[in-house]
Amino acid sequence: MGKTIIISNRLPVQLQISNGSITAVPSVGGLATGMKSVHSGSDSVWIGWSGLTDEEIPEELVPKIDKALAEHGSSKVNLTKEEVEGFYFGFSNRTIWPLFHYFLEYSEFELDSWTTYKAVNQKFADAILEKAEDDDIIWVHDYQLMLVPQMVREKRPNISIGFFLHIPFPSFEIFRTLPWREEILRGLLGSDLIGFHIYDYERHFLSSVRRLLGLEVSFNEIYLDNRVIKVDSFPMGIDYKKFSDAAKEHSQKPASQQSELQQRLNTHKQSDPEAKFFLSIDRLDYSKGIAKRLYAFEYFLNKYPQYKEKVRLIILAVPSRSNVPQYQLLKREIDELVGRINGEFSTVSWTPIWYFYRSMPFDNLIDLYTSSDIAWLTPLRDGMNLVAKEYIATRTDKTGVLILSEMAGSANEMNEALLINPNNFEQIADALYEAINMPKEEQQARNELLQNRLERYNVEKWANSFMTSLKAQKERDAENISK
Ligand code: ADP
Ligand code: G6P
Repeated sequence: MGKTIIISNRLPVQLQISNGSITAVPSVGGLATGMKSVHSGSDSVWIGWSGLTDEEIPEELVPKIDKALAEHGSSKVNLTKEEVEGFYFGFSNRTIWPLFHYFLEYSEFELDSWTTYKAVNQKFADAILEKAEDDDIIWVHDYQLMLVPQMVREKRPNISIGFFLHIPFPSFEIFRTLPWREEILRGLLGSDLIGFHIYDYERHFLSSVRRLLGLEVSFNEIYLDNRVIKVDSFPMGIDYKKFSDAAKEHSQKPASQQSELQQRLNTHKQSDPEAKFFLSIDRLDYSKGIAKRLYAFEYFLNKYPQYKEKVRLIILAVPSRSNVPQYQLLKREIDELVGRINGEFSTVSWTPIWYFYRSMPFDNLIDLYTSSDIAWLTPLRDGMNLVAKEYIATRTDKTGVLILSEMAGSANEMNEALLINPNNFEQIADALYEAINMPKEEQQARNELLQNRLERYNVEKWANSFMTSLKAQKERDAENISK
């Protein structure tokens, strides 16, 4: 067996150029943070976009850029500003992302951006073809590259190709609205194995294949030409040890070595030991339900006024896809809501919401996870939601309550969390009340079960089971052909 080639739009790092020098900053998002752990422990090659357009890269910096990426086991696909506009901001994030997250009304069907999506997928496929040997394994990731498997298959009929979708696959009724639905399905079917986070996404996909392409589907296998394509679910885990070790180390840090953020959190805790921190961490994305969470917080403060001056909501929102109008509108809405709620409820000694709009270094994420009594993660729709898993992994003394949306893929494996419908404010307010008053022993009993599961099914296990299944599928396929 040859090497593994990982291919995704985002690389583990994003490059930034300032005054002629290059900085590599870690990419945010479940795909990059999860795959980074898998990639660093193997001899895989990772191909993707550097985050800079061709126009932003001065000719003389190209060797330095290649070197910076090579240090992270990565190599880049070059994209022009126009390509990024049509492929990334356009078809990927104005058509597929909203559609697959059930925001049909946000989804734009533009022929130009579809054309660019196809051309850029071909660029990624060419980059693979340039590097791949016949015995290599190609692992393609996510909705930005759904045509790549078929493009590679055309040129290398026998190569092993796996595809994993990190976002939901929507129901047939939603998917059928896409003008290029057959092409997308055919693109994916170039793979030997197609993976989803949960069984629901898998069955939606199978139903679309059956109904739109009329192909023979038996259980979770699709028959196409002389190939058998397997479809399965692999719920993505986290690098559990990394988070639990970081939390243990964090708990042993003397005050003098703590971050400024941690010191501030401590001061507030010390001034009122009964006070509770609610934590909300997401990319600033409409699928994450941040605005609804703010309305629900207001509802909670009105329903349970005894908690005024006792609770604080910490919102960390990472800037994301800010060229897309829906994200700009959402940013404005959240700014206004935070301002209004703080204006309405603040007292001289209490500000109900702390709002950070930025990415944070890993250590600060750990500060927030370990200092928060309640993690409040209520996306309207989310492929998985790794933040929920990370929060649990950092709870070294097993206290803490997770309030999680039932619309997140992770809810399937996290039954011990308080699962809520993100549109039901009454239920959310009551879950917050329950979380505040949950006895410590109950918190620990719930988290113990969650932690054991997360530790066992970590990101390495996830990647291994995908790879094992891909190899087995390829072997079976080869046997069938030779018969
Ligand atoms: P998504 O992939 O949709 O962004 P996930 O919850 O699955 O959502 O993954 C988000 C990832 O990004 C997590 O691994 C989390 O640690 C990381 N992350 C979230 N917020 C921040 C932040 N402010 N700064 C740095 N990393 C963050
Ligand atoms: C989700 C997607 C990833 C994407 C990430 C961050 O996790 O599934 O493919 O990389 O969000 O979004 P961005 O647009 O910044 O890559």
